[in-house]
Amino acid sequence: MNKSILPAAKLQGHISVPADKSIAQRAALFSLLAEGRSEIKNFPPAQDPQTALQCIRLLGAEVIQEGSDVVITGPGRWNMKVPGQEIDCGNSGTVMRLLSGILAGAGIPATLTGDESLSSRPMMRIIEPLMQMGAEITSSEGGYPPLRIERNRELASVDFTLPVPSAQLKSCVLLAGLFGSNPTTVTETLPSRNHTETMLQLPVKQQGNKKIITVSRDHAVRPMKLHIPGDFSSAAFWLVAGSVLNDSEIRLSGTGINPTRSGALKVLERMGADISVTGERTSAGEPVADIVVRSARLKATSIQAEEVPDVIDELPVLSVAMACADGVSHIRGAGELRVKESDRLAAMEKMLHQSGVQIRTYEDGLTISGKPDARLLPGRYLSFHDHRIAMAAAILALKADGVSEIADAEAAAVSYTEFWDHLDILSYR
Ligand code: S3P
Repeated sequence: MNKSILPAAKLQGHISVPADKSIAQRAALFSLLAEGRSEIKNFPPAQDPQTALQCIRLLGAEVIQEGSDVVITGPGRWNMKVPGQEIDCGNSGTVMRLLSGILAGAGIPATLTGDESLSSRPMMRIIEPLMQMGAEITSSEGGYPPLRIERNRELASVDFTLPVPSAQLKSCVLLAGLFGSNPTTVTETLPSRNHTETMLQLPVKQQGNKKIITVSRDHAVRPMKLHIPGDFSSAAFWLVAGSVLNDSEIRLSGTGINPTRSGALKVLERMGADISVTGERTSAGEPVADIVVRSARLKATSIQAEEVPDVIDELPVLSVAMACADGVSHIRGAGELRVKESDRLAAMEKMLHQSGVQIRTYEDGLTISGKPDARLLPGRYLSFHDHRIAMAAAILALKADGVSEIADAEAAAVSYTEFWDHLDILSYR
């Protein structure tokens, strides 16, 4: 699907962003592990969370979905069934990596496949610790999907220190450890998103700058009742759009603001954004709030490696903010962006270059010379079949002085099915 995007004079209105993709996928996978009835409200229609529901059905969960209400009857972690077919993880790295930990831990033989993008994402990072624990896993040459997990005996425990600050890798090892008689520990020095430890209520110890999470088969996984908060990563598109377009005001209700996810708030505030966060509350252990963003003149900033995990999924749209900010901005220590749903550093370079913004790419980042006072050039953007690139391109296109085109714009539905409708609702021309 090709989308034509007209420039906008301003953005105004009130929306609720869709439910959090990371939490929804975990809600599905953890309900499979819990024996009995889990009730999940505000489950999103987006492609990745729906993929998670399909996958758990193949392993013996009963899933009843009525609108955004999902009831999952889980077989429990000791009674999952061997799937009768390959498990298609679609576009979702989270599903593939977390499910691999579960299947290896349970010793359930299965083959995990994915779409073209997922098939080119690195899996060695999970294969290595799982094999160290005694799992037998084969992959395509170089450690790419499909993954074949063989039936294995009980896994040994490990003390694993994360070599990259990845919540998917952390969660994979913790989930495998949930089947072992002896405690497995995962240590991280740069905190990655903490939904797994929060939702499974795992014991967490802080030792200086180290966070140590412990798990074993003795840890109970109970059915859950959960209302999934709005996805901060989806809200970030509007936080940037509302900041960089004149005369704008956007209200976003019920948005998750977990600090391991919402680093973009700090970055935008540092850039001079006018954002207010009110009505803070907690939903299922996750902080939630209402956010209002108003137009502001943004100034350049730097994002370094320590800050990257908190903004990892927001870096494409933050680079749009940098393109509209006064001065030269830098992103460094973000090499992980090269192995996301697309090579996001290369994608942003192509996109910003077309819009007439000066950009330099490094192996691990970008340097962007902002153009705060000029309308940008309209572009013919490729989404690279990457949801966040398609949506970042749309926000950039609102600032252009003509009509832009985005190819393969349907990719947005991986995390945000209503994105194009919300864009129409909020845009004034
Ligand atoms: C996710 C973790 C992040 C993030 C991805 C979702 C998760 O990946 O980029 O979109 O749900 O755990 P990494 O943990 O590999 O950085």
